[in-house]
Amino acid sequence: MVFQVILSLIALLYVGALIIYRVFLHPLRKYPGPILAALTEGYEAYYNIVKEGGLVAEIERLHDAYGPVVRVGPNTLHFKDKKAFHDIYTYGRTLIKEPQFYHGLMAHCEESSIGFTDPEEAAKRRNLLGPLFSRRAVVALEYTIQAKIDKLITLLIEVYSFPDSSLDISSAYLSLTLDIITSYCFGECTDALDSPGFSHPFIRGMEAAKTRLWLIRHFPFFLSFTLRMPQKLVLWISPTFKGYLDLVGGLERQVDSLLKNPESAYNVEHETIYHHLLASVASQDRPSRKSLLDEAFMLVGAGTGTSSNACTVGTFYFLKNRIIRQNILLELDEAWPDKDRPVNFVVLEKLPYLTAFIRETLRIAPGVIHPLPRMTSRNLATMIGDWEVPPGTIVEMSVLSMHLDSDIFPDPHTFKPERWLTVADEDINKMLENLSPFSKGPRICLGLNLAWCELYLIFANIFRKLDLTLLVTEDTIEDYSKDYVDAFVASWGKGYRVFVDRERQE
Ligand code: HEM
Repeated sequence: MVFQVILSLIALLYVGALIIYRVFLHPLRKYPGPILAALTEGYEAYYNIVKEGGLVAEIERLHDAYGPVVRVGPNTLHFKDKKAFHDIYTYGRTLIKEPQFYHGLMAHCEESSIGFTDPEEAAKRRNLLGPLFSRRAVVALEYTIQAKIDKLITLLIEVYSFPDSSLDISSAYLSLTLDIITSYCFGECTDALDSPGFSHPFIRGMEAAKTRLWLIRHFPFFLSFTLRMPQKLVLWISPTFKGYLDLVGGLERQVDSLLKNPESAYNVEHETIYHHLLASVASQDRPSRKSLLDEAFMLVGAGTGTSSNACTVGTFYFLKNRIIRQNILLELDEAWPDKDRPVNFVVLEKLPYLTAFIRETLRIAPGVIHPLPRMTSRNLATMIGDWEVPPGTIVEMSVLSMHLDSDIFPDPHTFKPERWLTVADEDINKMLENLSPFSKGPRICLGLNLAWCELYLIFANIFRKLDLTLLVTEDTIEDYSKDYVDAFVASWGKGYRVFVDRERQE
């Protein structure tokens, strides 16, 4: 009994001391913000988990109340300031990815390009993989992307051009980008496009994972605990894990066979990640089995939801806005008169209206809307924008503040490709400085050349070869520039359905 009383007293003293320290003595005490956020990381967890991806909206509200810098956690500052954004990401070479966040969110792939928080490890992996995602490699392999787009178009004409048939195009795009990334990276495809109704188990699993994501970020042991359980039990508790387990099983088989004979990576039709991580690397520099699996799995995640989100959002505005549709089709008809012959990425990227359209799509549908936390030097104070930040502070900024900045993008919630066409070069440069869908600096997206190529080819082929119609119902979304749900990448409560207009198609 006495022992319990002593323990309770110690616990109370500890909590009391922590409160006093965090509110009155902490180096961030002078920064404004809600007292609860200064006291506990639970503030962030509450908005992520209980408010189901509501942190980004809450942070926006906090900036309205407190100004351009807000203390959003005991040791975390969130900025809403262009100069700060560039100091954190573009020039922030001494800042590192914040370990707790990344080790939580990337618990299933921490030994991968995105999961490495140590800058040296990240740079080493980027040096190995970079050549496969260079512009040169993407141009050489664009036929693999085209093949998957052709397959989708055939399917849409065959299955979705009958009266009363319609589809949620976001699942079709998810299946497409999943097939593209797996065949590009591994030379082996998931064939998600073959699943009836675009409901491949991995796609269904991805949808379901959105609700578990923040739980895992804040309580990473849930994932390691789940993955240690017998597979049958996992599937009994949550059947949506099937897609994840099947995909990981396939990757394990491929990696194990390659580890036995690394040179067999050359037997695949085209370069894959394993050429660069195994076959052409001295044995002492080869990543471990775990790291190979983490990397492979991470690439699938990084290259699927991001690109497909952009396709879904861009297609919506194309279908909704007659003028945008006309402008794109006019440009494509002229540049690509015979649509039965394939068109190349290098031709498409020269088209001004299509380029403006893709930039505007990425502005409204950036890949990752969650603030990406970085840790400042543990020894020195760091200037972030006009603020001197104490050593060892977590600093972050959501890209939405850059993309919806009304000084740079007037009327920021309106989808307007023309904003990229009708202004002076100087203004375009300012807009490009703000446009950061792939982040910036040393940890910029590794797959951005692949992503650009995908977007040009997908939009051009879908728009030029299909006569799609938007099916308007009361469940149709009205505007993708608002009501984001933060599932690390953006997600929206509502979507839309389309069908292929058979008469106009023929
Ligand atoms: C429209 C499509 C895409 C968008 C908007 C996008 C966006 C991003 C963003 C914002 C980051 C930074 C994340 C962070 O700092 O934690 C990132 C990182 C990354 N992305 Fe992408 N991405 C896209 C497509 C792809 C594709 C197709 C791949 C496939 C190769 C890919 C691979 C990666 C990798 C490996 C990283 C980690 C880089 C690092 O941390 O050093 N991404 N991406």
